[in-house]
Amino acid sequence: MTVANDNRQAGLLCALAEVPDGGAIEISALPEMPIVIVRRGVDAWAYRNVCPHFSIPLNYEPNTFWTYDGELLMCAHHSAMFRFEDGRCVEGPCEGTALTAVGIRIDRGEVFIDNPEQGL
Ligand code: FES
Repeated sequence: MTVANDNRQAGLLCALAEVPDGGAIEISALPEMPIVIVRRGVDAWAYRNVCPHFSIPLNYEPNTFWTYDGELLMCAHHSAMFRFEDGRCVEGPCEGTALTAVGIRIDRGEVFIDNPEQGL
């Protein structure tokens, strides 16, 4: 399932509960700038859904992401592993690079982009 921003409030991406604990979802606020949100408990982080290895989406199937132990997000193409908390690649063909972070905040169970002027 892809979650679309319906502009209920400026910068609203989704409810935190929509992100599986230990998993990830894709947000398609703008089709040309998909975002992946990963969650661990009450914490969540957002990144552009672009793998630094080949500059393609991290997933094959729409909104289907591989994660491990609520710690790592894996690229479906060549298995690069990215830490939830900073997007750093810790294993795989682009080790040492990082996903591009998108600043978010969580307010009363909802996830907002920090800077709505980023085009969302
Ligand atoms: S495209 Fe992601 S690891 Fe190669």
